[in-house]
Amino acid sequence: MSAGEERPELRGTQLFDLTGRVAIMTGAGRGLGRTMALALAAAGADLALASRTAPEIESLAAEVEQLGRRAVAVPTDVTSPEACEALVAATVERLGRVDILVNNAGMNVRKPVLEFTPEEFDQVLAVNLKGYFNGAQAAGRRFVAQGSGKVINVSSILGSVALANQAAYASSKGAIDQLTKVLALEWASAGVQVNSLGPTYFETELTRPLYEDPERKAFIEDRTPMGRWGQPHELAGAVIFLASDASDFVTGQILLVDGGWTAW
Ligand SMILES: NC(=O)c1ccc[n+]([C@@H]2O[C@H](COP(=O)([O-])OP(=O)(O)OC[C@H]3O[C@@H](n4cnc5c(N)ncnc54)[C@H](OP(=O)(O)O)[C@@H]3O)[C@@H](O)[C@H]2O)c1
Repeated sequence: MSAGEERPELRGTQLFDLTGRVAIMTGAGRGLGRTMALALAAAGADLALASRTAPEIESLAAEVEQLGRRAVAVPTDVTSPEACEALVAATVERLGRVDILVNNAGMNVRKPVLEFTPEEFDQVLAVNLKGYFNGAQAAGRRFVAQGSGKVINVSSILGSVALANQAAYASSKGAIDQLTKVLALEWASAGVQVNSLGPTYFETELTRPLYEDPERKAFIEDRTPMGRWGQPHELAGAVIFLASDASDFVTGQILLVDGGWTAW
């Protein structure tokens, strides 16, 4: 018996070891999802990678395999409940189990409220909110049945604070944080932890219109106590923590990785 088994406080960094765990990452093809998938693989997890663009998740699967982990690419549109059920089923069939779901696939339409079409508002909510519900419901059936599981809902600082021109996106992220809390309560006694991970601004395709505009880029830097944008690898520690035994008594929380933005 190891010291860690006798005395859990002596497990040290082994608390963060994901060896033998299987994680699903939605929106894995690029941006934050791609980096977080690699971070989970580097911590030992096998990965099911989901998005609509097959070549992107296939190339990531090859990269994960180079790290010595197993990976499957499962083309998925998260707005479809049936597709999310099929994603979880494919994960179990091809990787043997599922332990972690990272709901990450997201989109944005930035414009003033008075310029939104009903279709644009619906589309943002369909991907960002309903997509997370679909993923959580599909994976949650397994997690509750097996008595363990981790759901990580990638939210945003805009779930907690507001900015102009973000009506649909901020509404979706605020709703995700509430969904996190409801799921955490419903599944707490089943041994399933559900948390939100809320990034500030990171350079990805999603935020290209902002960082390529000097005025908007500077606004974000000025508004951030640490004075800069985040780098995708700076989410690695938070996602590994929320996916691992290190967070076993943490549920229903919003972990903001924001360079101090929300501390104002
Ligand atoms: N970047 C930031 O500064 C920032 C800040 C706070 C929060 N976030 C959140 O972090 C998450 C990732 O953002 P990101 O910046 O990495 O975005 P991104 O670079 O635009 O990547 C978005 C990913 O989501 C996938 N996706 C979009 N719609 C989908 C759908 N219907 N079904 C399945 N996959 C879909 C995309 O792939 P396909 O188009 O191929 O499907 C892509 O892989 C989002 O939830 C976003 O709101 C980002």
